[in-house]
Amino acid sequence: MTEPNNSVLVLICILFVSTASFVYFCRKKSRSHRLPPGPSGWPIFGNMFNLGKMPHQTLASLREKYGPVIWLRLGSIDTMVILSSRVAADFFKNQDLNFAERTITDLMRSHDYYKGSIALAPYGTYWRVSRRLLTVDMLVTKRLNETAPIRRKCVDKMLTWIGEAASVDKVRPGEGIHLARFVFLMAFNLLGNLMLSRDLLDPDSKVGSEFFMAMTGLMEWSGHVTIADLFPWLWWLDPQGLRRKMDRDMGKAMRIASDFVRERIEEKKIGGHDDQRDFMDVLLEFKGNGKDEPAKLSEKQIKTLILEIFLAGAETSSSTVEWALTELLRDPDSMVKVQAELSQVVGSNRKVQETDIDQLPYLQAVVKETLRLHPPIPFLVPRRAMGNTVFMGYDIPENTQVFVNTWAIGRDPDVWEDPMAFKPERFIGSNLDYKGQHYGFIPFGSGRRMCAGIPLAHRVLHLALSSLLHEFNWEFDGRIDAKTIDMRDRVGVTMRKYVPLLVVPKRRAM
Ligand code: HEM
Repeated sequence: MTEPNNSVLVLICILFVSTASFVYFCRKKSRSHRLPPGPSGWPIFGNMFNLGKMPHQTLASLREKYGPVIWLRLGSIDTMVILSSRVAADFFKNQDLNFAERTITDLMRSHDYYKGSIALAPYGTYWRVSRRLLTVDMLVTKRLNETAPIRRKCVDKMLTWIGEAASVDKVRPGEGIHLARFVFLMAFNLLGNLMLSRDLLDPDSKVGSEFFMAMTGLMEWSGHVTIADLFPWLWWLDPQGLRRKMDRDMGKAMRIASDFVRERIEEKKIGGHDDQRDFMDVLLEFKGNGKDEPAKLSEKQIKTLILEIFLAGAETSSSTVEWALTELLRDPDSMVKVQAELSQVVGSNRKVQETDIDQLPYLQAVVKETLRLHPPIPFLVPRRAMGNTVFMGYDIPENTQVFVNTWAIGRDPDVWEDPMAFKPERFIGSNLDYKGQHYGFIPFGSGRRMCAGIPLAHRVLHLALSSLLHEFNWEFDGRIDAKTIDMRDRVGVTMRKYVPLLVVPKRRAM
């Protein structure tokens, strides 16, 4: 390929600046309506440079100056940010339907992913049908109870991997293991078992490891913002190479998922899979009424839904467990309490079961307090205004994207006493839960588009964390301690620890 010469580059720059300036001034001129307050931005770029490396924290800090609802322009995208529990309550109680659409990022258009996704679907029939299949057919209590042994088996495997990784011939004394990696592998494997009845991490499965590699790439890229997200008319530029990488990994994951679908169709033809109906069966057997819903799901929709559950469930779970253990190690009193509760309720002769969770209030409080301080999706999945709307006296134009900053809301001083401190006790004896009715605590979102996986996430988080604490005592890697540990987070597809937690497991005397 020949390099573009200088005059072509100059022409492109002139075109860019003039188009962007034209759009900017036209939009400015047409704005006679009232918008929420916010920092003034640069021409063309708007507030892009105001966000910093930790946008959830930077935006939270703007509350003091501009109040709990602020207005930004990110490139060409109008954006409203919600920073308090009171505003979130107004938004979800009174405006949920007006903002029931999503913004679709450039990378999520790769291989038309967004067309089969639940999280990105327009508020309409496909969204309703696919969400119902997940919540009613896969995650209903009866079905979840039946699949409890699968989760126990996957958690047991994780404990074995951890025991092996920490053995004396693998690490030096005092050297920690990277906990989140094992929890991520467990969650990925667990989702593979529940949806496809496959052990994707079986070392003999070549296709399993190819799928895993493609999916981890896909998860990495999907958290990024491209130039086209900020300046849609520059869709043809890909300076970071992100679209190319996304196309590669999405294409590979889709191809492998297609093979899974076709293999299952063949298996069903010869009568397989009757006794253990999994999510793939649910999707293949779906029969719509053919009027206001499709008669059946296409292969493309089925494979996208499968990929979506991996995207939604694996990293969110591993990041929450990693933060929970980090907080417990920094707060030995809470660690003692949670392990004492496990000893009392579960004892030393058996493993934790999902049926124990209701009898473990302190463990539940630890999980809630972790999600309050470290919500894995700090802006929820951004909503989009379906039409021009008046919200809190402001005129919000159609297509405005909305960031509900659940990280800031979990620290809202109007709701939380001593908000920055890790205190699981604040949840003891309270009926506060994360099902979307308590607007000061919405790590899974709220309203129509709230997380569709809560019943599964609830079980996996409690089972995984309690098993880690029941099986092992934990210490920091010898090079860090409670005072020096790096508590920064990093935002990608989920918000996870910037520096991974390294920990030393010591098997508990039972
Ligand atoms: C710790 C675990 C998890 C957390 C913190 C979490 C959080 C979230 C959040 C914040 C949203 C956006 C809600 C909104 O916009 O109001 C969401 C959406 C979603 N989540 Fe989860 N999630 C978790 C696990 C899961 C799991 C295990 C599944 C699937 C089995 C799942 C499936 C979904 C789906 C399908 C959506 C899109 C819902 C829609 O647009 O209608 N999530 N999740």
